[in-house]
Amino acid sequence: MRPFRGNGGSGAVGSAVRASRMTEQDRHAALWDCIVGRRSVRRMQERNVSRGDLEALVEAAAWSPSPHKAQPWRFALVDERRRLQRLAGEMAAAFRADLERDAVEPATIERLCGESVERFGSAPAMLVPCLTMEEMRRYPDARRRRAEEEMAIMSAGAALQNLMLRAHALGLATCWYSAPLFCQEVVRRALDLPAGWQPLAIVIVGYAAVSPPLPPRREFQSLLRYAEAANA
Ligand SMILES: Cc1cc2nc3c(=O)[nH]c(=O)nc-3n(C[C@H](O)[C@H](O)[C@H](O)COP(=O)(O)O)c2cc1C
Repeated sequence: MRPFRGNGGSGAVGSAVRASRMTEQDRHAALWDCIVGRRSVRRMQERNVSRGDLEALVEAAAWSPSPHKAQPWRFALVDERRRLQRLAGEMAAAFRADLERDAVEPATIERLCGESVERFGSAPAMLVPCLTMEEMRRYPDARRRRAEEEMAIMSAGAALQNLMLRAHALGLATCWYSAPLFCQEVVRRALDLPAGWQPLAIVIVGYAAVSPPLPPRREFQSLLRYAEAANA
């Protein structure tokens, strides 16, 4: 099968139809390869990622499950050097302020902030997933408001997993960073995000410059508990 490159006019439905023509075995093998083979890659080559491929990642996110079919996430695409560097600089300044408040020693602050600028400023591209509660339900009480927001955040996680799996299938590497959660206003301003978009993360996207070792995984059996009468 020819690899699918970007959405170049073929559209989401076209790629879903192509997938359905695979045998069950092929489909499972391809999916399992993506699930197990995807890695968080923290160092990328300088090579640019095409906008078609970046759009294809957002297209994959759009196919993820969401509460009330609301799709309560949006994505800011950042692939211009100046914008990446501005964002990296402003996030590092916010990080520095937090570290100073924590009385971290100055040399450590310099090192951590330098690494942060390098990490985000040198990425070929990034997608910044943002939460929007616009089409979610509005409740008068805090308990249900919180549940509704948690549902929306969970669905952002599903969207990001779809996005990262498709990146892997396209030969691209990704790493999910949580830094924006700690400085949402800074990110919102640096990217001129629309009102109501809450930045949740940064997913850097590029061609891997390193091949990270496989992080340890728990045996899945240890994650599983049979909810049977005998356990009651
Ligand atoms: C919600 C979430 C937040 C994460 N935040 C960071 C982060 O801030 N910095 C980082 O280096 N990796 C981050 N990661 C990536 C994890 O470190 C990575 O998934 C884990 O080490 C397992 O490696 P793997 O993705 O290659 O399987 C995050 C992953 C998730 C799901």
